[in-house]
Amino acid sequence: MNETGPIGVFDSGYGGLTILRQIRAYLPEYDFLYLGDNARAPYGSHSFDVIYRYTLQAVEALFARGCRLVILACNTASAKALRTIQTVDIPRLAPERRVLGVIHPTVEAVARQTGSRHIGILATVGTIASGSYELELRKLLPDCVVTGQACPMWVPLVENNEFDSPGADYFVRKRIESVMLRDPQIDTLVLACTHYPLLMPKIVKYLPSGVRIVAQGEYVAEALRDYLIRHPEIDACCTKRGEAAYLTTESVEKFEESAALFMRTAVRAEHIDLHI
Ligand code: DGL
Repeated sequence: MNETGPIGVFDSGYGGLTILRQIRAYLPEYDFLYLGDNARAPYGSHSFDVIYRYTLQAVEALFARGCRLVILACNTASAKALRTIQTVDIPRLAPERRVLGVIHPTVEAVARQTGSRHIGILATVGTIASGSYELELRKLLPDCVVTGQACPMWVPLVENNEFDSPGADYFVRKRIESVMLRDPQIDTLVLACTHYPLLMPKIVKYLPSGVRIVAQGEYVAEALRDYLIRHPEIDACCTKRGEAAYLTTESVEKFEESAALFMRTAVRAEHIDLHI
């Protein structure tokens, strides 16, 4: 099938826009279709079954709009739904299409950067509970020590535009101190959630010296660029007018207001219903 269309970028809400922004900087000539399931976000503490069902609905909606390739920009969806979608649903539904996640490119960057091989993962409850980061890291660094730290308040702080407020300091400090106390040998902390880059100034403020932060946007963007070079048959199906369009399951007005914060520019969105 030679259908052409934009590259789909899916997230539970707004956070994936931080990934989209980086991807567009690396691949400015490509078209993108972003889908935020804002009405059902956050995904972070939903069960496996719910996240899988929601994510599959979103992927199918993006396929129906012509996307040959979909990026799950959401860590929680990448951790809990990607593998089943790749191995069970794609062969059945659309063998010529592809879905990629954010965990693999992030883990490759971490493996290149850590010296002590003691790594801290900051993420949602769901991503930490899945153990996906540890599993993937162990494939590259079998002797690494991985400490997962759930940060349940960080997403709501960002979603409610409180990421810059004095109240955010309390929650950021609490989680950074907690993970460093659990393993003082950590030399690399991974921001394994789409929303966390917006808390970067606070994170850096409480970070012990000598500990580096890995934010995933640039690594996901690099990996996508490499993927398109290695897969010219997929690349040929991606339209290239340098455009981006946005879909949200919430109200368009609400999305446009918050999305402008993440994209640092005005965006126009369209409503979509996913519950099938
Ligand atoms: N996008 C999610 C992630 O990267 C964070 C927001 C949510 O919990 O839905 O894990």
